[in-house]
Amino acid sequence: MAVAKIGVINVSDRASKGIYEDIPGKAIVDTLNDYLVSEWETEYLVLPDEQHELEAAMIEMADKKGCSLIVTCGGTGPAPRDVTPEATEAVCNKMMPGFGELMRQESLKFVPTAILSRQTAGIRNKTLIVNLPGKPKAIRECLDAVFPAIPYCIDLIGGPYLECNEEVVKAFRPKNS
Ligand code: MTE
Repeated sequence: MAVAKIGVINVSDRASKGIYEDIPGKAIVDTLNDYLVSEWETEYLVLPDEQHELEAAMIEMADKKGCSLIVTCGGTGPAPRDVTPEATEAVCNKMMPGFGELMRQESLKFVPTAILSRQTAGIRNKTLIVNLPGKPKAIRECLDAVFPAIPYCIDLIGGPYLECNEEVVKAFRPKNS
C-alpha cells in the first residue's frame, strides 16, 4: 500500500524566528500519530505569515512532494498578518467550506472567540489542505471534529487509503463507497 505523505505547516512569524517554541506543529504530528495506524510520512515546515511563501510551500508539498493532506496551523485570525486562509484559497481549485463551519462550531464549545477564526479547507488536485488555529489546545479540538471525514475525502480525490485507530478516531466511509 502507498505510504501517505502528510504536510504540516506551522504558520507563525515568531515560531519561524525561533522566538516561540514550535508547539502547535508538533501537536499536529502527535495527533496524527495517535489517529493513524496506516503508514505515513511527514513533510514539515515552520514559516512566517507571508502569503507568497505559504502558497509556494503548499504548491511544493502538493505537486512535488506528493502530499495527500496538508494541515496548517496559525494565521487564521483577524490580525493584519494573518493570511493562511488567503494562501489556501489561492492554491486550491475547490473550496471545502464544511471544514471551517464544523471547526468553528466545535471550537465555540470552548471559547467565544472561535468566531474570530477564518480557518478553511480546500482541494488542490489530489491534495486536501486544512487550516487549524494556532493555539496548541485548539489543534486537537478541531482535528477531533473534522478528521472522521478526512480519509473518505482523500479516497475521493484519489489518494492513499488512510486507516485510523478506531479507539481514537472513527473514520467514516459511506457503505458501498
Ligand atoms: N479554537 C479553539 N478550539 N480554541 C481557541 O483557543 N482561539 C480563537 C480561534 N479558534 C481558539 C480557536 C482565536 S482567539 C483566534 S484569533 C482564531 O482561532 C485564530 O487563531 P490563529 O490566528 O492562531 O489561527
